[in-house]
Amino acid sequence: MIVRALTRRHGRAADRHRGDGAGRWQHRAPLAADFDAVLAIEVQSYSHPWTLGHFKDSLGAGYRMELRLNGDGELVGYSVVMPGVKEAHLLNLTVAPSARRQGHARALLDRAVHRARAHGERTLWLEVRSGNQEARALYHAYGFTQRGLRPGYYPIDHQQREDALVLALDLPDVGHPASTAGFVHGVD
Ligand SMILES: CC(C)(COP(=O)(O)OP(=O)(O)OC[C@H]1O[C@@H](n2cnc3c(N)ncnc32)[C@H](O)[C@@H]1OP(=O)(O)O)[C@@H](O)C(=O)NCCC(=O)NCCS
Repeated sequence: MIVRALTRRHGRAADRHRGDGAGRWQHRAPLAADFDAVLAIEVQSYSHPWTLGHFKDSLGAGYRMELRLNGDGELVGYSVVMPGVKEAHLLNLTVAPSARRQGHARALLDRAVHRARAHGERTLWLEVRSGNQEARALYHAYGFTQRGLRPGYYPIDHQQREDALVLALDLPDVGHPASTAGFVHGVD
C-alpha cells in the first residue's frame, strides 16, 4: 500500500479557485480495501492512532466517515462524524502528512458541515489536544470557538496526560455562512 506524495499543484490553488479544481477530488464512504491506506495515515499522524477496530465500530454505529481522494484515487484525508440530536461530533479529521497545508482539511470540514446541516444538526463539536497547534490553528481559522476543557483527557505516555479543548462551531441555516473565517462552505 502506497500513500503517494501529492504536489502542491493538486492542492490549495485548486480548492480556492473552484473552476480549476472541479472534478479533481473524489469523496466517498470507505470500502474495506481502503483501510490499509487509512491506517497508514493514522499511524503517521497520531501518537495514539485509531485501530481498524475503532473505524469498524464507528461505521457499525452509523457514524459518517468520508474519504477525500485525488484524481488517481489516492487517499489524501478523511473525517469521521458522530451524529447526535441536533448536533454532531467530529471524532477524526486527518490529512496525509505529504498533503498538508493544501486545503484538504478545510475541504473535509466543509463537507462535514454541509452534511451536518443536511441532517438538521446545528452544532459541530470536537475535542483537540491542547498541544496540537496545527489542529488548533485550523479550527480557530475555521471559526470554531472554545466551549470547555477536559483536564487530562488524552494520554501522552504511561505517566502523563494532556488536556482536551472542547471546541464547537454553530451551524446557521443552510444558505448562511457557518464561520466568519471566509472559507467557502460547500462541496467541491
Ligand atoms: C490538522 C490537520 C488536519 C490540518 O490539515 P491540512 O490539510 O494541512 O489543513 P488545511 O491545509 O486545510 O489548513 C487550513 C488552515 O488551517 C490552518 N492550519 C493548518 N495547518 C496549520 C499549521 N501547521 N500551522 C498553522 N496553521 C495551520 C491555517 O489557517 C490553514 O490555512 P492556510 O494554509 O491558508 O494558512 C493536519 O495537520 C493533520 O492531519 N494533523 C494530524 C492529525 C490531527 O491532529 N488531526 C486533528 C485532530 S483534532
